[in-house]
Amino acid sequence: MGSTAGGGEPRSPDRESPDRESPDRDAPDRDAPEVAEERLLAEQLSYYRARAPEYDAWFRREGRHDRGPEATAAWFREVEQVRQALDALPLDGAEVLELAAGTGLWTEPLARRAAHVTAIDAAPEMIARNRERLGRLAARVIYREEDLFAWQPERTWDAVVFAFWISHVPAARLDGFLRTVARALRRGGALLFVDALREPSATARDDALPPAEQQVMLRHLDDGSAHRIVKNYWEPEELERRCRAAGLPVTVRRTPTYFLYGTAP
Ligand SMILES: C[S@@+](CC[C@H](N)C(=O)[O-])C[C@H]1O[C@@H](n2cnc3c(N)ncnc32)[C@H](O)[C@@H]1O
Repeated sequence: MGSTAGGGEPRSPDRESPDRESPDRDAPDRDAPEVAEERLLAEQLSYYRARAPEYDAWFRREGRHDRGPEATAAWFREVEQVRQALDALPLDGAEVLELAAGTGLWTEPLARRAAHVTAIDAAPEMIARNRERLGRLAARVIYREEDLFAWQPERTWDAVVFAFWISHVPAARLDGFLRTVARALRRGGALLFVDALREPSATARDDALPPAEQQVMLRHLDDGSAHRIVKNYWEPEELERRCRAAGLPVTVRRTPTYFLYGTAP
């Protein structure tokens, strides 16, 4: 992967209406790299807080995310491939940890099988939607509002799952994050993560992917507002190497177009 640590200037995709951007969007980042990265992560979180009501449209390939029937069919075929990998994990009656749980697209199938799911997310708006989606199943979910860049596990779980989170971890923090996951997973436990391959049609029509050497991209919401986020597209082989170095015996595979996913054991 060609990402650099610490970000760099956000790319401004060609915009037909520049006034949709915030006023200081193009101001150079004069802060120390650590301060700039903290600011970027805060911006990323506030983007997700604001995105909670419209988040599922991305997964369902609706509105700005609709890339035509063929792309949609491929997307859902590949989601099914990942779901089968999830279904193959020994989750029945397990204590499961889900990181960056979001609106519950993955929490729901986890809660159907697990004894309990501990679902962590820093956005209260995401947690509220997750709880609403799960309905009665939410009784099996322990929701925790935590910043994953500060959180440390105080126990171990039988399984750890995180979907579409790893690409939002700054490259320089990835190894530390994976070591945290290794501490959270009981010895011999199960793990699944899924994330995006570098495929332009996976993102909204008005969002351009960051150049390979950058890890910051500009995302838009339905109201046209623009927000900087971290987006790293890892090569499966590199991610597998880093997982193993962190003590996670993960195999990382790719679907034909859209996803990479890692599983253990
Ligand atoms: C791309 S979404 C993935 C949601 C869900 N896993 C899914 O696949 O649908 C990223 C999630 O990370 C959460 N998030 C962002 N920054 C976070 C942080 N610092 N700590 C914990 N969660 C964070 C967002 O609120 C959002 O729910």
